[in-house]
Amino acid sequence: MLDNFFAPDSVAVIGASREAGKVGYELLKNLLDSNFPGEVYPVNPKASEILGLKAYPSVTDVPDQIGLAMIVVPARFTPAVIRECGQKGIDSAVIISAGFKESGSEGTKLEQEVSGLVKEFDMRVLGPNCLGVIDTASRLNASFAPGMPPRGKIAFFSQSGALGTAVLDWAIEGGIGFSKFISLGNKMDISESDLLIALADDPDTNVILGYIEGVKDGKAFMEAAIDATKKKPVIIVKSGSTAAGARAASSHTGTLAGSENAFQAAFKQCGVLRAPTVEALFDYALVLAYQPLPERNRLAIVTNAGGPGIIAADACERSQLTMTSFQQNTIENLRGSLPPTAAIYNPVDVIGDAKADRYLSALQAIEGDGNTDMVLVLLTPQAMTEPEATARNMIETFSGSSKPVVATFMGGASVKEGIGILGKNMIPTYTNPERAIAALEAASRYSDWKNTAVRQEEAGFPVDKDKVKEILGRAEHQSENTITGRDAMEVLSEYGLVVPRMAFAETGPEAAAVADEIGYPVVVKISSPEILHKSDIGGVRLGLSSASEVERAFEEVVSAARRFMPSALIMGVTVDQMVPAGKEVILGMAKDPDFGPMMMFGLGGIYVEVLKDVAFRIAPLNRREATSMISEIRAYQLLRGVRGEEPADIDGIVDSLLKLSQLVTDFPEIIEMDINPLMVMTSGKGVVAVDSRISVNL
Ligand SMILES: Nc1ncnc2c1ncn2[C@@H]1O[C@H](COP(=O)(O)OP(=O)(O)O)[C@@H](O)[C@H]1O
Ligand SMILES: [Mg+2]
Repeated sequence: MLDNFFAPDSVAVIGASREAGKVGYELLKNLLDSNFPGEVYPVNPKASEILGLKAYPSVTDVPDQIGLAMIVVPARFTPAVIRECGQKGIDSAVIISAGFKESGSEGTKLEQEVSGLVKEFDMRVLGPNCLGVIDTASRLNASFAPGMPPRGKIAFFSQSGALGTAVLDWAIEGGIGFSKFISLGNKMDISESDLLIALADDPDTNVILGYIEGVKDGKAFMEAAIDATKKKPVIIVKSGSTAAGARAASSHTGTLAGSENAFQAAFKQCGVLRAPTVEALFDYALVLAYQPLPERNRLAIVTNAGGPGIIAADACERSQLTMTSFQQNTIENLRGSLPPTAAIYNPVDVIGDAKADRYLSALQAIEGDGNTDMVLVLLTPQAMTEPEATARNMIETFSGSSKPVVATFMGGASVKEGIGILGKNMIPTYTNPERAIAALEAASRYSDWKNTAVRQEEAGFPVDKDKVKEILGRAEHQSENTITGRDAMEVLSEYGLVVPRMAFAETGPEAAAVADEIGYPVVVKISSPEILHKSDIGGVRLGLSSASEVERAFEEVVSAARRFMPSALIMGVTVDQMVPAGKEVILGMAKDPDFGPMMMFGLGGIYVEVLKDVAFRIAPLNRREATSMISEIRAYQLLRGVRGEEPADIDGIVDSLLKLSQLVTDFPEIIEMDINPLMVMTSGKGVVAVDSRISVNL
């Protein structure tokens, strides 16, 4: 797939120029300078020869077949050029030219026209408005970026051309090797998902890096990413936020959702590592591309100075890594080979006067330690220090090891050589221990994902979809297309959620009669689609234990509602069975414009919007994801029980999340909903949904 973009037999440069400095010249020059082994055909109606190559007036005049067309003509000429390419049977093209969607409504129209032609001729197109593509394995530099990076195992795609150039420039200087570089541009046709699919199977690529500002198709992205991350790490910097639309949210979930959380959730669910900065992107990439994956997360640190060792240990403490405790025989070995003043527990301090041999014996002991999964070597230049020899000893100790090793050689001139030696031998170095730890943490997170990334298919709950469809349809007759009260509860109940016995009543005596049937104690709640938070306005009366109390409660909640909103449509009240007190949690869903139904979980109650202690995932969920949603919130400890409390029924919450996930997946017309609260009893005693609102788009 996309083979002609990376290893074409021949390339045509349509819009090649004789004028140095012009894109059509620089691009052709890059192709020639990179020693691309295939044929190169400049196309320019006004020239017969460019950079020593015969030029053709039109691509249709080229006598041979063409693998890849590079289009650098002004935007307005691209439809004609695409048509010619299509007629010549070219299936792959890169449109470098700008002046499309990024430049306003005229450009957008032009882009649509080109897109139509591309489909008509069944072509694949990269761009427009991009830098081009580089493949170091096939020696193709079909870009106007300044220079070609060295060959390596890292593939990088970028939605921003400017960032792409900066990164390439920096990679060339730092000697960071690339397998492929792809500039996405406007993503008219080829998107990040296509590249994930192609790069996942690329034997030259160990790690896929990306810079994106948004995704073209959220579902396609997730599918491609899940598949890719099973094969190799995917690390992405995502900036900018997509406009989430200005629709006023009618639920807590809707208020808290937002595009940023959706990306975060989607990345998590697909095993994509998110890097906070471009610097971190490459920090993570180096250890993932060139070092073995750590089996678990136990870190050993070796240092020749106390301070950096403490800094590293602190960073480890803040991360998901743990400072390992060495096995007894490792400790004996260290004690035997290091001077008595050395620290033999983690971090191991070989002391300021350590030469390379002392590092060597410490590293050998640690490499063989059964409790260590990864190693960070710290070095500060002191009088006796031997940075180069130490680097070589690291290489010797860890060649063929199953444990990743990285280094921080602090300082400047005196450690430069040592760092160079490590770099050439694929041992990543970082300017400070914090960066090293963050990179190792990323490696450990990816290792976790790889070990557990089996997407379990959940057996669906048996449901009566027609019944739910009918209830959702009723919303049409209510204001704001919102379903509340008994109707909402019925929907939940169809999906296997436990709800209290409840009935609707239009008058006080009727409420008392249904309460008698339900059995005391009961709860009376105002029923009005316009009242969002019933208890805020005195619309909920709890713990009623007789018919007369119920009648009085009816009058109270109705008059409270009238006071609060004189114009509100009041249907009556619902009378609920009073559920025994439990922990209150919120479950919800809001549609994300990129990824579709996004589920939320958090501790319920009135503080949810203030504390924002909630977790998000894209539906459909599996059991593992539902479980991790619950354990990820800060208040998880409260659910587990504090100070002798019995733990809450967490399995019951997991099941409820899965049921809700099935509901919102089955009914895409549900655009937003909350179950708030779901009452969670102690372990084994179940969960009950006592309040819900569902917004539909019919
Ligand atoms: N059936 C019930 N059993 C026990 N407590 C209930 C019941 N219904 C509501 N409550 C309590 O009343 C609170 C408010 O009720 P709720 O129906 O969620 O109204 P709203 O969210 O509109 O204010 C709930 O958070 C819960 O503590
Ligand atoms: Mg509520």
